[in-house]
Amino acid sequence: MTHVLNQFPQQLNGQIQVPGDKSISHRALILGAVANGRTTITNLLQAEDTRSTLTALQDLGTQIEQKGTQTIVTGQGGFTFRPQQTTLQMNNAGTATRLLLGLLVRQPQALTLIGDQSLSQRPMQRVLAPLNQMRQQVADNETVHLPIIIQANQQLEPLDYQLPVASAQVKSALMLAAIQAPGTSHITEIAQTRDHTERLLRQFGGQVTTTGLQHTLTGPQQLTGTDVIVPGDFSAAAFWLTAGLLVPNSRINLPQVGVNPTRTGFLTVLALMGATIEQTQLSGPEFSESFADLTVETQALTGIEVPATLIPNVIDELPLVALLGTQASGQTIVRHAAELRVKETDRIRAIVIELRKLGASIEELPDGFIVTGPTVLHKTSQVPLNSHGDHRIAMMLEIASLLTPDTLQLEATDAIAISYPNFENDLQGLIN
Ligand code: S3P
Repeated sequence: MTHVLNQFPQQLNGQIQVPGDKSISHRALILGAVANGRTTITNLLQAEDTRSTLTALQDLGTQIEQKGTQTIVTGQGGFTFRPQQTTLQMNNAGTATRLLLGLLVRQPQALTLIGDQSLSQRPMQRVLAPLNQMRQQVADNETVHLPIIIQANQQLEPLDYQLPVASAQVKSALMLAAIQAPGTSHITEIAQTRDHTERLLRQFGGQVTTTGLQHTLTGPQQLTGTDVIVPGDFSAAAFWLTAGLLVPNSRINLPQVGVNPTRTGFLTVLALMGATIEQTQLSGPEFSESFADLTVETQALTGIEVPATLIPNVIDELPLVALLGTQASGQTIVRHAAELRVKETDRIRAIVIELRKLGASIEELPDGFIVTGPTVLHKTSQVPLNSHGDHRIAMMLEIASLLTPDTLQLEATDAIAISYPNFENDLQGLIN
């Protein structure tokens, strides 16, 4: 689908309830499926990515029903499924694919995971190599991409593993395998990444001990169904924080957003750039994650070098940091972010190619980019903007288009439905 982008608002004003957190939604469905008893998930993200997880779990034989805003998962009380399909279509869902590779390590019959073109190019060896150390057998040791045939091993061994990359997906996949292996596993991270799996495992009655960057899990464990309230997705809120900062005279309220400190590196980046975001913390025993109401107003920004230690914590928001850099004074530098090259698309390439079409001064680095601002964004050629099939690039470009009176075209906008199907309506609500 191609969108014509021709809105040049004088201000953005209003309130947006951002959709449920994508990372937590995948995990709540998956843990609910293997727990004993019922799990009720409130505010599950309803989008293509989580639909892939939900359908894969249904294909594995899990009963899942929607009742109003609640999703009810009937857990099967164990890790062995009675699949109705032996091929699971994961579409674009990288998180779900990696998590299922870990979850399905003891599945008796062979299962094949397939995905769309983008997912079929993303690295899977980072999960398969440590799983093979636990003596799970994948098709062969050469497999690096989907399709992957999982031939699980009932004689799983515990794992002692140091992750070579900062990846919450890999960490989580290994945790899901470790809780099934008899004995004690140690999983050590190279940097702290989002800890939603650890929090949810505990909420489902599982045990994981974290000391610094090391996680210890003793298996086998049994999980118990629970009630999960999914906060608004901070990564979705980040689009509106950016829009509110950059479009003149704006004020946007974002109620009930998840502000887990392992996710909110973007707030630290904004503070370093000179912006203040109002935060009203919400608390209560019903929340296993931190929730806050956020409010943003238009502000002037200064370029920064994003500290290397923050990168894993702001990884999904780096396309927005590039856009903010085009409007900040001075240089905005991102390094140590080579992981961006293996996301839904090569996000470093996509950011550089697309923002240059809007006249940005941006230089590509092997592991990041340097943006020099401020620049007046405008249409520089007849070549349309393109999302590269990546939801976050598509939405970043839609926010960028609000800064120019020029009429632009954006190709491949269908990708937005992967994480935020209501994005256009929410934007319209701020303009009217
Ligand atoms: C995610 C982890 C990150 C992130 C992705 C969601 C998760 O990926 O980019 O959008 O839910 O665990 P990596 O684990 O590959 O860094």
